[in-house]
Amino acid sequence: MTTFASIPVKKTSQSRLSDIDFTKLEFGKYIADHMLVADYKNGQWHAPEIVPYGDLKMSPAILSLHYGQAVFEGMKAYKMKDGNVSIFRIHKHHERLNKSLARMCMPEVPHDLFVQGLTTLIETDHDWVPRTEGSSLYIRPLVFASEARLGVKVSDEYKFIIMTSPVGPYYSKPLRVKVEEHYVRAAEGGTGFAKCAGNYGGAFLPTQQAREQGFDQVLWTDAKEHHYIDEAGTMNVMFVLDGKLITPKLTSAILDGITRDSIITLSHDLGLPMEERRVSISDLAEGFNNGKLTEAFGAGTAAVVAPIATINIHGKDYQLPQAGATSFQQQVKQKLHNIRIGAEADEHQWNHIVQIV
Ligand code: COI
Repeated sequence: MTTFASIPVKKTSQSRLSDIDFTKLEFGKYIADHMLVADYKNGQWHAPEIVPYGDLKMSPAILSLHYGQAVFEGMKAYKMKDGNVSIFRIHKHHERLNKSLARMCMPEVPHDLFVQGLTTLIETDHDWVPRTEGSSLYIRPLVFASEARLGVKVSDEYKFIIMTSPVGPYYSKPLRVKVEEHYVRAAEGGTGFAKCAGNYGGAFLPTQQAREQGFDQVLWTDAKEHHYIDEAGTMNVMFVLDGKLITPKLTSAILDGITRDSIITLSHDLGLPMEERRVSISDLAEGFNNGKLTEAFGAGTAAVVAPIATINIHGKDYQLPQAGATSFQQQVKQKLHNIRIGAEADEHQWNHIVQIV
């Protein structure tokens, strides 16, 4: 079996780092100097290397472009107080990547290739990790079918790439979201739990329409009845209802969010009772009417903790109170930040530390 204990690095002769204005980071606008590239052929992954970030020469017949075998992850790395870099929950992201790949009939990425490849990439581009609070280096692992062939088939060849991008906060203000009751993001038994490209492409039209109506995002409901909340566009969703943290219980239609999982763990540490269960539109409307729904927020790698200010249910706007410093969402956001930068003990062993020499 091939092992990937060390990954060769070809460094760029022309770093773009000095062109970047770290005070004006937009999500995904800048891509760091290097990327990891590995190829899958003849049943195994070959020759991973770190190379200068740049275009790939590919046939327009590659299967991913036609039949959608493309899976990605979203992760983050943080500059720590001691100057090292922490990669948040690397093993959990690797596990989820492989679950998504299995659903899309794609080969797993070995653990040592993922961890060693990403560690070497971050060592190489550590100067791209932003230092200001609220900023981080977003990490985008991607696997796609690269066999050039028009027949409808499972590809025999793939590329695994990891690229990174310095980012600031994903949303700049509390969100106005609309409960979506016409379109569907995912149905049970489909690919909703997988981080495959098509899930995002299929969400564009409803999200675009919601934006035209003055919303920032949609709250997806279940495919059968449009009655239960699944997740929010690009993130999971959580509520504080009747003094408890509530989040929709995972189904095959909901992404198993790693920020979601981390917040559930931290809610126990912070002493807030929590429940994973079905959350209906009526639960929300009732919570607004009796004043027991006190917080709503999105949770995701890119978004981290994104306050929701307004939820539109059946065409009516319901307003949430502003989330102050003592709100659960602000406390948990701060705790996550402290753990990631090493200001608080990493009791759950979530940080993968990259030593910067
Ligand atoms: C993430 O939070 O990492 C995502 O993948 C959501 C979106 C930016 C695509």
